[in-house]
Amino acid sequence: MDESQLGPFRHLANLQDLVEGSSKMVVVDDLWIGLFNTDGTIHAVDARCPHAGAALTKGTPVDGTISCPVHAWNFRLSDGKYLDEDCSDCDLAVYPVRIIGQKIEVQIPADTTDSRAD
Ligand code: FES
Repeated sequence: MDESQLGPFRHLANLQDLVEGSSKMVVVDDLWIGLFNTDGTIHAVDARCPHAGAALTKGTPVDGTISCPVHAWNFRLSDGKYLDEDCSDCDLAVYPVRIIGQKIEVQIPADTTDSRAD
């Protein structure tokens, strides 16, 4: 994601809502944001699987990765990289995360309308 397209950080969840090994979907307008806690790190990525649109938050994060619950495509959460083969168009968008006290804040795009719908 081009940083110039990002807006301000927004409070999307609290740490107590996202225990180790869990995930949570937050919908902001047309944007599905997946929050994942794996190995004590909170990641925010596009929650919609690029293969056929399944919600990646229905899967369980393990060792910094998420496997799509529908057809088992695998992604690294730190950078959104699709891990099963070389396909840069298959990578997930990744959003910066910061923790302020108990708040999980994510820097999401300023325009949260889905350009894929065009
Ligand atoms: S919908 Fe995710 S791998 Fe097919």
